[in-house]
Amino acid sequence: MGLFNKKINKNELYPDNYVDIHSHLLPGIDDGAKNLDDSITLIERLYAFGIKQFRTTPHVLGDVWENSTTTIKEKEALVQAELTKRGYHDIKISASAEYMMDNNFSDLLAADDILTIKDKYVLVEMSFFNPPFNLDEILFQIQYKGYIPVLAHPERYGFYHNDFSEYKKLIDAGCLFQLNILSLSTQYGKEVTKIAQKLLKEGMYTFVGSDTHHKRHIKLMETLANQKTKKLLTPLFQNNIKEFSF
Ligand SMILES: [Fe+2]
Repeated sequence: MGLFNKKINKNELYPDNYVDIHSHLLPGIDDGAKNLDDSITLIERLYAFGIKQFRTTPHVLGDVWENSTTTIKEKEALVQAELTKRGYHDIKISASAEYMMDNNFSDLLAADDILTIKDKYVLVEMSFFNPPFNLDEILFQIQYKGYIPVLAHPERYGFYHNDFSEYKKLIDAGCLFQLNILSLSTQYGKEVTKIAQKLLKEGMYTFVGSDTHHKRHIKLMETLANQKTKKLLTPLFQNNIKEFSF
């Protein structure tokens, strides 16, 4: 292991003012934190990495995770109150959503009922099996409404792995890419890591996120605490800070 790959402490991986923009930290609302205690535990574990700013993004996914602006804001308030109660005055958390690009999302868009990560940025995802048949239309509608689509974890969409030009098309269609930091670990398999590295090398990512769902994810993040990852991700960390600070 060369100097470049040197291990660092886990609280040295993220810059001090890093803002995480993708996670599932609200209690009992999706496949992330199960209850309020779990929410706080996940936040505390991320805090141990030095992360103090969270723009958390529960799933809004058809009839699987039928979250609304109201349910999300209620849970956000619960977590904020609990953090204050426990004395975490230096933690900032706000909630928006990770929207599956399905019919429900199109309806929300038409009704102007969209929670942005911040400003005009909307976090969107697609199925891991296939892109929506009307993907171009949805991406157009998002931007027509004045939003900027931030595509979550493009490296995880296996149907694009053998045709890299599809990624270029998505960027040309106005998407900004958000890397899941755990795609650089063993979490999603070698193919995903390979594609993530290629997208990084080509400079195609704008933002990064932890996509934390549970403690195992955070534990795995420790394996990425090295100089190489830090250097590789520094431009993305800086973009997160620039666009999403509180
Ligand atoms: Fe997610």
